[in-house]
Amino acid sequence: MKGSAGRGCFITFEGIDGAGKSSRIAEVVAGLSRRGLAVEQTREPGGTPLGERLRELLLHEAMDLETEAMLMFAARREHLAARIHPALAAGRWVVSDRFSDATYAYQVGGRGLDPAKFAALEQWVHPGFQPDLTLLFDLSPEIAAARVAGTGNRPDRFEREQRDFFERVRMAYLERARSAPQRIRVIDADRPPEAIRAEIEAAVAERFFP
Ligand code: TYD
Repeated sequence: MKGSAGRGCFITFEGIDGAGKSSRIAEVVAGLSRRGLAVEQTREPGGTPLGERLRELLLHEAMDLETEAMLMFAARREHLAARIHPALAAGRWVVSDRFSDATYAYQVGGRGLDPAKFAALEQWVHPGFQPDLTLLFDLSPEIAAARVAGTGNRPDRFEREQRDFFERVRMAYLERARSAPQRIRVIDADRPPEAIRAEIEAAVAERFFP
C-alpha cells in the first residue's frame, strides 16, 4: 500500500545512541530502491545545509534546554519545507535517521522539557503530519554505551550523558510507542543483525506491500 495518490512514504528510525540503527537504515533504503522506488536517505538534526549547521551547534555547543528544543524544531521545519514535503509530494520515499520522537525522548524524557511545550512545537512545525512508519530500536543503555565506546569516535554532547539519562530517554521512547502503536514498531535491538534485518523487512513489507 503506497501513500495516497502517488505520494511517497516517510519512514523514520529511532533509538538511544548505540542502538545500532545506522547499518539497518542503509539496508532499508537499498531494499526500497530494489523495488524500483526513488528513495532519499536523510537525518536529524540535519538533512539540509542549514540543518547541518544547526546540527554542529546542537551536538557540540552547551545551551539552555529550551533553546535546544527550539533549535531541533527549527532544523526540522527547514528539513520538512526544503526536503521532506517536496520529496513526498513528488512521489519519492524519505527515510530519516530520527525525527520528532527523538525530541520527545531526549528533550522531554532525558532533559525534562515540559511535554506541553514539546506538543506546542510539534503542532506548530508539523500539524497533522507524522511518519508512515517508525522503527524504534530498543536496547538497554548498558549495551548501547559499550557499542558507542567501541566506535572510538569522539562522543558528542548527548553521547557524553550518563546512564540514567539514557534510561529516561529509553522509557520516553517506549511511552511514545505505546501512544502510537500503529505507527511505531518497537524492535528488540539486542539480537544478531540478521534477526533484526528480517524483522525490519517483514515490518516494511507488512506496512507498505501487503
Ligand atoms: P545521531 O543521529 O544518533 O548521531 P550519530 O549517530 O552521528 O551520533 O543523533 C545525534 C544526537 O542528537 C543524538 O544523540 C540524539 C540527539 N537528538 C536529540 O536530542 N533530539 C532530537 O530531536 C534529535 C533529532 C536528535
